[in-house]
Amino acid sequence: MYSVGIITASDKGSKGEREDLSGKLIQKVMEEKGYLVEKLVILPDDEELLAQEMIDMADKLQLNLILTTGGTGFSQRDVTPEATLKVIRRQAPGISEAIRYNSLQITPKAMLSRGVSGIRGKTLIINLPGSPKAVKESLGFIVDTLHHGIQILIGDTSECGQK
Ligand code: MTE
Repeated sequence: MYSVGIITASDKGSKGEREDLSGKLIQKVMEEKGYLVEKLVILPDDEELLAQEMIDMADKLQLNLILTTGGTGFSQRDVTPEATLKVIRRQAPGISEAIRYNSLQITPKAMLSRGVSGIRGKTLIINLPGSPKAVKESLGFIVDTLHHGIQILIGDTSECGQK
């Protein structure tokens, strides 16, 4: 069973002014897919706090996967991609490309998400947009392929098979 940490980036959510529906939705989807959700946190849109949480989840908790939601847009407070780029050592752009490519078939506004994906040590980190709708759609496009990526990342397999 692979472990996952969820970070919701939301100024309002972190102050209790908005319910974290997106974080809960990620938790539900990932549990249904057989992942163990070890931590779910709501943080303000603060680059340092977000980066530090990602470092803790990757280095201390050694989670296999970190999924963030929110803070990927154009608002001055949207800094989740910057926090992520600060902590990853290798980019995994194909995951964010898949999210945007498929999301663009649903809404042209998908081009406004600046989300990135990458690897810190043996932890894969992926930014998802913030609304529950965007989370459901984005995660749906990638979730079934993540298992194989994590397998390779942690050395569980070196075989890519036929498909
Ligand atoms: N992607 C999908 N699949 N569905 C959506 O509804 N909304 C977009 C985009 N990506 C959307 C989406 C919108 S409206 C914005 S502004 C950006 O994600 C950034 O969202 P965020 O700032 O909440 O991260």
